[in-house]
Amino acid sequence: MDLGLRGRTALVGGASAGLGRATAEWLAQEGCKLALWSRGGDKLEQAAEEIRKLYSVVVVTVAGDAADPTAASKVAWQAERALGEIDIVVLNAGGPIASEATKPDAAEWRRSFQLLTLTPIEIASALLPGMRKRGWGRVVSIMSSGIRQPIPDLVYSNACRSALQAWLKTIAEEVIADGVTVNGVIPGRLDTERVATLDKARALKLGVSAAEVRAERERTIPAGRYGRPDELAAYVAWLCSDLSCYQTGTFVPIDGGMLRSLP
Ligand SMILES: NC(=O)c1ccc[n+]([C@@H]2O[C@H](COP(=O)([O-])OP(=O)(O)OC[C@H]3O[C@@H](n4cnc5c(N)ncnc54)[C@H](OP(=O)(O)O)[C@@H]3O)[C@@H](O)[C@H]2O)c1
Repeated sequence: MDLGLRGRTALVGGASAGLGRATAEWLAQEGCKLALWSRGGDKLEQAAEEIRKLYSVVVVTVAGDAADPTAASKVAWQAERALGEIDIVVLNAGGPIASEATKPDAAEWRRSFQLLTLTPIEIASALLPGMRKRGWGRVVSIMSSGIRQPIPDLVYSNACRSALQAWLKTIAEEVIADGVTVNGVIPGRLDTERVATLDKARALKLGVSAAEVRAERERTIPAGRYGRPDELAAYVAWLCSDLSCYQTGTFVPIDGGMLRSLP
């Protein structure tokens, strides 16, 4: 199916690995010009090189730490300088640390709020005026199941992403009349480095193997397995397309049925 994305420009966060990388590949396959954003380094450059070769599209890289209060304006500016106006932004970066919710750490709260709430808000805010002026734009945020059902040990993620969700829902109403949609996807447990790291940390805590943790978690997923990053990326690409123009303000789980709650 042609999603009608050929020639569109997209800034994709967390694009050197995992869900961001898979999303970048889907958008490249659809003919988008890409600005791949992460903290930078060899992994990011390698991702860009591989995507260029595989899909013959323009791919540039932008380095910036989402936990840095000055990152958002630099990342948005560099992406626009390299590609021109940005049509699509995929808000995504790394996750926060696991912690005990009853032992708050003020510095970690501030860092997580910058990483998961303020930086995405600031990047989207920098790019929205251009999208609205041109009458077309897509904002898609990669969230977490913690916004529906708080995850033990991930209080920073649960709280900071819920704040981001509230902001996204608020602006979705404001910008749809200008042809800009704002949506989120909720990954359950998709097979990436981050999930492997969290599984290892839990294994260490419980004194079992990471394979046992994974097997225990897979039993709680009706699909019986962790998802693949491309299974989420396909849906993000759909949200970025013209075909989804009447869908806004939604947050859709891609989780093999893991979340039992009604929306
Ligand atoms: N995978 C899942 O099932 C799942 C479930 C719930 C939520 N999530 C959330 O979805 C997001 C992506 O997860 P993932 O599984 O794809 O993780 P991942 O495989 O660890 O990839 C994270 C990506 O973000 C970049 N990144 C990390 N810290 C960053 C920072 N401070 N600033 C800018 N970029 C940064 C990394 O690149 P560099 O190292 O090059 O910076 C990498 O490209 C995370 O926020 C995660 O918590 C994932």
